[in-house]
Order: sequence, then structure tokens, then C-alpha cells
Amino acid sequence: MSARQLMKVFVTRRIPQEGMKLLQKASMCDVLVWDSDEPVPRAELLEKVEGAHGLVCLLSDRIDAEVLDAAGPNLKVISTMSVGFDHLAIEEIKKRGIRVGYTPDVLTDATAELTVALLLATARRLPEGIQEVKSGGWSSWKPLWLCGYGLSGSTVGVIGLGRIVPLDTLLRESDFVVVSCSLTPDTQELCNKAFFSKMKNTAVFINTSRGAVVNQEDLLEALTSGQIAAAGLDVTTPEPLPTDHPLLRLSNCVVLPHIGSATFSTRGVMAQLSAHNLLSGLTGDPMPSELKL
Ligand code: DGY
Repeated sequence: MSARQLMKVFVTRRIPQEGMKLLQKASMCDVLVWDSDEPVPRAELLEKVEGAHGLVCLLSDRIDAEVLDAAGPNLKVISTMSVGFDHLAIEEIKKRGIRVGYTPDVLTDATAELTVALLLATARRLPEGIQEVKSGGWSSWKPLWLCGYGLSGSTVGVIGLGRIVPLDTLLRESDFVVVSCSLTPDTQELCNKAFFSKMKNTAVFINTSRGAVVNQEDLLEALTSGQIAAAGLDVTTPEPLPTDHPLLRLSNCVVLPHIGSATFSTRGVMAQLSAHNLLSGLTGDPMPSELKL
């Protein structure tokens, strides 16, 4: 195949080798990578995507009409290395007949593990305990010091397992409320003042889905007023959360930097699946995981 016939693929970040190797050995592609761990600046993205047939992107890249226009009519496939696709302008993509690949299922276990870890860390106040050890605040074993809430025998309500339990009942009865649903117009700011007001004062709120599912002002108020006991967040608005954000000053709020799927093997499989989706899309074959638009 001559260079002129190669299909241009732009990869918006350095992704794990498992995916890069597949892309690099695809003889039909000319692969251009933003070879950095940091996001591609918007201006570079708009420039580099020009003429691309395929785009491999991450959840931190906003792929909207401007990017699609910059890419131009060659663009056939967008493959996002994520299960979430709220960063993609789906209606615009659909209008242009572009196919979308994503990575469901392969990160479920890693994210579930992180959710349990965050839940326990928040409920049992691990970050506070670690801080006390480091700062010399640990003077003795004390009967009421750093007590939290136990998981054993509690009721855990998970939002994102389907519409099995009415939300009000779930909020009223749960000791732990775990949010794992996708971000859609229906779930945008679902967790707001009214939502928190239905939770128990002793309940712990955990979010490992998307920051925008939560109204953060209302969460801040619920945490400071004692409406709820504590929150553990792996996702925030914006990401990264500014270091002077009021949520970071609260001892009853644990914030992680969106690491739900961050195990070496999971990220490797996500990269591999993203590459397979992209290549199948470019050749017009069924993708292993295509988003139905
Ligand atoms: C995803 O893939 O959408 C997750 O949020 C990454 O952890």
C-alpha cells in the first residue's frame, strides 16, 4: 500500500503498549500520537486531527462539533478508551455517520474494587487516620477516636443497577449510597439538595461514575450541615478539582483522582479493545464493542 492510501489515525495520548502495538502494526494506518501523559492542548488537537480517518481519544478529550469539523469528512471512527461517552457530542457524531467504539465490561471489576476501597476508606476514615499518624496526633488508643461506620450488617443502595428500587426508598433505607450510573441528561445533578435530604444523617455517599451526576454545592452543604455523614468521590467537577476547593478542606470527604479503572492490566485491556474497535471500524467490520447510536 502506498503512503497516499494509508488511513490517518490520531491518538490523543500515550496509551498502554497493548493498544499502541496493535495500531502500529496495522499496515493500513499512519498513526500519529500525542506522545505525552498530559492531555493534548485544544489547539494541537484541532490541528492534529485534520484529515484523520480514525481518532482514539480519552474521557478527558471533549469531542464536539469543532473537533469533528477540524477532522473533516474523512473521519469514519472514534474509539474512546473509556466506558463513559459523555465527552462525545453523540448527536453531531451520528449526523456525520461516524462510528463509535468504547470499552464496556473490561473495567467493571477494577472499578468495583475501587468503589469498595473508597467506601471503606471513607466510612472508616482512613485518610484522617493516616494523617494523624504522620502529624503526631496519635497519642494513645482512645475509645471514641476515629470511629466510623461499619459495612457489616448495613444496607448498601447502588444507583446504576437498574430501576429495581424506587430512588426515595433506596435513599431512605441505605447506610451507604453508591452512585455508579452513567451521566445522561436524566442523571445530570441527580444527587442534589432534595436527594441528600432523603438520606440518613449517618449515611455515607460514594460516587465513582461522573462528577456531573452530583450538584457539588448541595453535596458540600449536606456534608457541612451534618445532613449526611461522609462522602467518597472518585469523580468531581471539574477534573482535576482545584486544590483550594472547599470539599478538600472537609475531614468527612475523601477525594480520589478518577482512578476507578487504574490497574495495569485493566488499562492494558482497555487500550487493546480501543485499538481493535478502531481498526475494525476503519475496515468496515463489526467492532468488538460498538456504541449503538
Ligand atoms: C470510564 O472508562 O469511563 C471510566 O470512568 C474510567 O475509569
